[in-house]
Amino acid sequence: MSNVCIVGLQWGDEGKGKIVDVLTDDFDIIVRYQGGSNAGHTVVVNDKKFILHLIPSGILHPGKQCVIGNGVALDPAILLQEIEELKRLGFSMDNNLYISDGAHIVFPHHKQLDLLLENEKGNNKIGTTGRGIGPCYTDKMARNGIRVAELYHPEYFKGRLKNIVEEKNKILVNIFQAPPLSWEQTYNEYLIYAEKMKPMVCDTVEFINEAVKGSKNILFEGAQGSLLDVDFGTYPFITSSNATACGVSSGVGISPKQIHRVLGVMKAYTTRVGSGPFPTEINGELGEHIRQKGGEFGATTGRPRRCGWFDAVAVKHSITISGVDSVILTKFDVLDDQKTIKVCVGYKFGQKTYTRFPTDLAALPHCEPIYEELPGWLKDTTKMRSSKALPVNAKNYIRTIESIIGLKIEMVSVGPERSQIIRVS
Ligand code: GDP
Ligand code: IMO
Ligand code: MG
Repeated sequence: MSNVCIVGLQWGDEGKGKIVDVLTDDFDIIVRYQGGSNAGHTVVVNDKKFILHLIPSGILHPGKQCVIGNGVALDPAILLQEIEELKRLGFSMDNNLYISDGAHIVFPHHKQLDLLLENEKGNNKIGTTGRGIGPCYTDKMARNGIRVAELYHPEYFKGRLKNIVEEKNKILVNIFQAPPLSWEQTYNEYLIYAEKMKPMVCDTVEFINEAVKGSKNILFEGAQGSLLDVDFGTYPFITSSNATACGVSSGVGISPKQIHRVLGVMKAYTTRVGSGPFPTEINGELGEHIRQKGGEFGATTGRPRRCGWFDAVAVKHSITISGVDSVILTKFDVLDDQKTIKVCVGYKFGQKTYTRFPTDLAALPHCEPIYEELPGWLKDTTKMRSSKALPVNAKNYIRTIESIIGLKIEMVSVGPERSQIIRVS
């Protein structure tokens, strides 16, 4: 038995979906443990592109079981749409998806508040995905949320929803001068969702722990990235969950001792969507070139992603937090046409040099990267399938990153397709 956790080591969109898909053959169960439909995980198989927001990326493999854990902020409308879309494409959705009865539900008031709170922030916007994630987790912590199990006790659900929506309406109307929401409409809508989800809802804590006892192999699929983690990311420009491996135990209900390996996924450069500090950001023509070549537009919102050089200081921070064992380097091919490639190995702020990542926003936005420059390989790597075939400078780039971060790069991804992967020997 070997349970593995996949985490993004940057600001999300590292290619986790593709890597989960590539690794799924070796696992019985694939589990999402945090985040919600703010995630957009892309898998490309034979030129067909699938973007998964809530369903684990292993779903495309017949015979695998997928779980949405209690730590996920569950938007039933988006989940049901995703299920319908997969069915339409010919995927069987019978007995292969399990939804935690303890997951918190995203309601219309969460989405409404997400947008209004962002507007209120003016220039200090986080740049959220607008999927209601922050307000849903806020309610969870404030003990004001509604969990999946409650949907199946209609009278109890009705009472709680009515109270909560009436409370939110005071905020919507009095603070934001927005129209009130109808709890009756939401109630009726969510009862329909509940009925549709019913065959999939269960006690996933029991399901997973039984699977652990039965020596099944489990793959935990992190969403977002470590630098967006609510505790260890670039607060307050973060998401509202633990996007590091730390989120697995509380987001699924298993002992941390059951996570046997942590695999980090990182791009050969860096991207970020939304606001917040980004020391290695490249502005101007080169940034735009990488954005276009890498297709760096949000899988959930379509927003252009900010692009920059690989930041080893930030990645080392992420590696430490999750205790990453080895890493996978993605989007390597996007750098194929670069003459010179920069890697950030430290920051300078005034007289101070940082080799550790300062999450303190008094420092990070003012940090100037210290770069090591490496010669590019100037060859198309997209058809290469073995590390031996890689050009010398490409091997050198991989070895340099390995030596800076102190971990082995297990795989290099050279294109979006499932088959475009090099297992590094
Ligand atoms: P995730 O959120 O971490 O799953 O990543 P996204 O799906 O949001 O973004 C990654 C994007 O890069 C998607 O469009 C993928 O199809 C694409 N992608 C993944 N790996 C590679 C790669 O090695 N090379 C290229 N060119 N694209 C890749
Ligand atoms: P995947 O799983 C990249 C970012 C948003 C915003 C911040 C807060 O596809 O890697 P939220 O809606 O969560 O309250 O937004 O977090 N963000 C992501 N960026 N990839 C993601 O997910 C993201 N999920 C949230 O852009 O800056
Ligand atoms: Mg994504």
